[in-house]
Amino acid sequence: MTKQTALITGASGGIGLELARIFAREGYNLVLVARSADKLTALAETLSTKFGITAIAHPADLTDPTAPDALFAAMQAQSITVDVLVNNAGFATFGFFTETDLQRELAEIRLNITALTHLSKLFGREMVARRNGKILNVASTAAFQPGPLMAVYYASKAYVLSFSESLANEMADFGVTVSVLCPGATVTDFFDRAEMGKSGLTKNMRMMDATTVAELGYRGLMRGKTVIITGWMNKVLAFSSRFVPRSLTAKIARKLQQPTQ
Ligand SMILES: NC(=O)c1ccc[n+]([C@@H]2O[C@H](COP(=O)([O-])OP(=O)(O)OC[C@H]3O[C@@H](n4cnc5c(N)ncnc54)[C@H](OP(=O)(O)O)[C@@H]3O)[C@@H](O)[C@H]2O)c1
Repeated sequence: MTKQTALITGASGGIGLELARIFAREGYNLVLVARSADKLTALAETLSTKFGITAIAHPADLTDPTAPDALFAAMQAQSITVDVLVNNAGFATFGFFTETDLQRELAEIRLNITALTHLSKLFGREMVARRNGKILNVASTAAFQPGPLMAVYYASKAYVLSFSESLANEMADFGVTVSVLCPGATVTDFFDRAEMGKSGLTKNMRMMDATTVAELGYRGLMRGKTVIITGWMNKVLAFSSRFVPRSLTAKIARKLQQPTQ
């Protein structure tokens, strides 16, 4: 049987890298996307040698509005059918909204929301036409509540959750499944990149490892689950947030995230 292909954004590190390992182990060919060309090339070589798959590195900055079209065109030029699209690349900005860098937050919106939407449109249309395919969007438990000190990030993940649930409903008519992975705090470079060193969140939270999060995401995707929340505690928190006033969840998030010293 011809191998299927999974395209994973943010595959150079963290949860995306672990997802790439799992898809390779399960016999998928890979298209690996992120900015770090060297890391992607090394990963593609390692995984293709170890698992006998074909892995392609496609370095791209997805905050560039032309990047999704270029990626889609590159797949067409190489006659690669993307059977599974994983929109995982994302980052956060930490601090008071009026003090944080506007350009950084606009780039965050372009990556977390715009590129994810753009790629879902391009590859989703193909999947619907073929009556076959799967999309996994990576949101966060942040999607279920407001998040003072990371206002743009929490709002971007609320978008990813709502958008994915709607697509899951629409695309089910065409045999395409859409899943949204909602991890809680996970050990990756995410917190360093968000410059959250002083945040209480990194000091007080018990974090999951990226391998476990990726395994849960893969399993949920294969089962056709729409919302995949990692870990029972995160499930309880996401569920209970429905019954607590949002002003209170905002206060709790602020208390958890504010600098501790
Ligand atoms: N870690 C957590 O606690 C946590 C919790 C909930 C949700 N998440 C979500 O999980 C996803 C993965 O995050 P992670 O924790 O694995 O963080 P990470 O280790 O920082 O990985 C982020 C990935 O995104 C890529 N990326 C960043 N900017 C990019 C850009 N402009 N264009 C293309 N790729 C870009 C990075 O590669 P390059 O730098 O090479 O481009 C890297 O591969 C994110 O959507 C994040 O919001 C994380």
